[in-house]
Amino acid sequence: MQTQLLDALQGILGDKGLLTGVDVHAGYYTDPRGTGDVRPEVVLRPDSTKQMSQIMAVCHAASQPVVVQGGLTGLVVGALPQHGEYVITLERMNQIEAIDPKAGTITVQAGTPLQVVQEAADAVDMVYPLDLGARGSCTIGGNLSTNAGGNRVIRYGMTRDLTLGLEAVLADGTIVNSLNGFIKNNTGYDLKQMFIGSEGTLGLITRATLRLYPKPKTQVVAFCASDSFDAVTELMTHMRSGLGSDLSAFEVIWSKTYDAILSDVAGIKAPVPAGHAFYVLIEMMGSDLATDTEKFETCLGQALEQDLIADAVLSRSGTEIDAFWSVRDGMAQAMGKQQPAVGFDISLSIPDMKTIEQELLHRLQSALGEVRLYIGGHLADGNLHLVAKTTADGPQPQEQIKDIVYGYVGEIGGSISAEHGIGTLKRAYLGQSRNAAELALMRTLKQAMDPKNLLNPGRVFSMQANHSE
Ligand code: LAC
Ligand code: ZN
Repeated sequence: MQTQLLDALQGILGDKGLLTGVDVHAGYYTDPRGTGDVRPEVVLRPDSTKQMSQIMAVCHAASQPVVVQGGLTGLVVGALPQHGEYVITLERMNQIEAIDPKAGTITVQAGTPLQVVQEAADAVDMVYPLDLGARGSCTIGGNLSTNAGGNRVIRYGMTRDLTLGLEAVLADGTIVNSLNGFIKNNTGYDLKQMFIGSEGTLGLITRATLRLYPKPKTQVVAFCASDSFDAVTELMTHMRSGLGSDLSAFEVIWSKTYDAILSDVAGIKAPVPAGHAFYVLIEMMGSDLATDTEKFETCLGQALEQDLIADAVLSRSGTEIDAFWSVRDGMAQAMGKQQPAVGFDISLSIPDMKTIEQELLHRLQSALGEVRLYIGGHLADGNLHLVAKTTADGPQPQEQIKDIVYGYVGEIGGSISAEHGIGTLKRAYLGQSRNAAELALMRTLKQAMDPKNLLNPGRVFSMQANHSE
């Protein structure tokens, strides 16, 4: 059967499209963070929707499970193969098929890197506004399947909000083409939403039509320090009302995280001196070259007068804008460098953010002794990233740390994943954020669309109702 299946796949994909043996290199089963050691027997590299459909038809007939890969930059171990799975990579489906600045749309294949889409939009004086640190290697398909968020959600929304149409291949090879560019299309179920954020469990996204916006003419960034959480939230309200929809980012870094960025990330220069409680990156993108900078400066000046800011620097050049953003993006690097440690990506209310450091430190330290906690993120979206570790030598008590943090997130009605997804890493905790009826409906949908459980099996949830691991 195995030989028959491989022959059939080889016939569809040709020599370049099917890898086995030594050609299956570690890049297909280890992510950039070094996670993953299950080497797949087979890697499938379709170059078209038609090939994707044909290979799924054959895999379906043979009950062969598959895992789908984009840039492998995800943080929840969703795209690394598990025993017995074939890898399907989108690496050969990386073409921009159409761009229409007048309509504000771009149609791309799912393996196209995010940055390539951003640059294509830029070349026609438009912007594809999704932006995140992994822009150079993450792919549109991965962005869609995880409903990626990133740095400009405050203004443009998540990937879901930027998607007009898409095409997906179902478990049995059926092609569902919903590739339209309409903003309004109330013709029954909005099927594309089934595939966005479902982490490849319901279908394989092959192409998408995305929304482009006019390129802002101005960009100004301030890097500020504040001495209390209340000052930070008042600053947010103040900047929101002063700048309206021109406010494009409001990112906050807690003091210990700032210290870690400055000490642990190479090439970072402190925009403002350390020693404050919070640091805030504020960005404005506007359309008026003559007045935008002044408007931003006025708003910031008022915030200084009202003591909402203790220190601030304003960008004077593109180089400074990049330097300020590299401090913010350095947060993910600094958090990554704390390994072994446990990372979190949670949604919670603003009042809960005020006390989260104190609350979690108290709970973690009561149970585990001295703990280091690094916090920061997309405050205006209600989304924080956290990393926790004990100072003890030896392996970290990962499960205990997760139980305490997720237990608290459940108590305050937060979400255990704001923008990174569930994958396999957070599956055991999904029940903290979703109720029994929601979980049952998810399983019903999975059962209907992938009855043999072949697409990314075990990602997000397991098909056994009481089986969380
Ligand atoms: C960030 C990624 C890790 O916000 O979500 O840096
Ligand atoms: Zn983030």
